[in-house]
Amino acid sequence: MRLHVADHPLITHKLTVLRNVKTPSPVFRQLTEELVTLLAYEATRNVRVSPREIQTPVTTTIGVEISDPKPLVVPILRAGLGMLDGMVKLVPTAEVGFLGMVRDHETLEPTTYAERLPDDLSHRQCFVLDPMLATGGSLGAAIDFLFDRGAVDVTAVCLLGAPEGVDFIEKHTAGKNVTLVLGALDEKLNEKGYIVPGLGDAGDRLYGSA
Ligand code: URA
Repeated sequence: MRLHVADHPLITHKLTVLRNVKTPSPVFRQLTEELVTLLAYEATRNVRVSPREIQTPVTTTIGVEISDPKPLVVPILRAGLGMLDGMVKLVPTAEVGFLGMVRDHETLEPTTYAERLPDDLSHRQCFVLDPMLATGGSLGAAIDFLFDRGAVDVTAVCLLGAPEGVDFIEKHTAGKNVTLVLGALDEKLNEKGYIVPGLGDAGDRLYGSA
């Protein structure tokens, strides 16, 4: 697994506002979108492109275009939905699939309750969006899902990660082509499975309800 933790003052600034308990949902949503667009720049560093000849006003030249099949962006519902606009702003030709996962508050185990993805993901580059990498259970299950359908590489984009979740994904995806892009790597998980210092429940903060 390749790990990239953002190191940019704009990202840290926006994350600080996001972490603040006083930040209201509309601002939280807007900042999430902006942060994901910044993280998407790094996450798409290895997006596959093919040569394309074009005519400029002056001459013909060879540039590139994003290859087919187009990348697939997969927000994990519900909180990952808040990251979708920020990602497709940068990659508007990407296709979008959905995975609904919920973790049991007692066992912290993930279950899939909804899925809307192409059956065949052969040759696809996939970008999974999940704001909080806590235990890594849901993200690990989402990554398995995509590889089982034939994806060739998976990049996960998270706003915050806990070391426990990063270790879990590293072990869980050993030998697979996985990249993890984090806005920040936080200290730890608490006994309730929340990231510390974190930002609380990302879904609640985005949508203002439990
Ligand atoms: N999910 C969240 O929304 N927040 C956490 O801190 C951990 C998991």
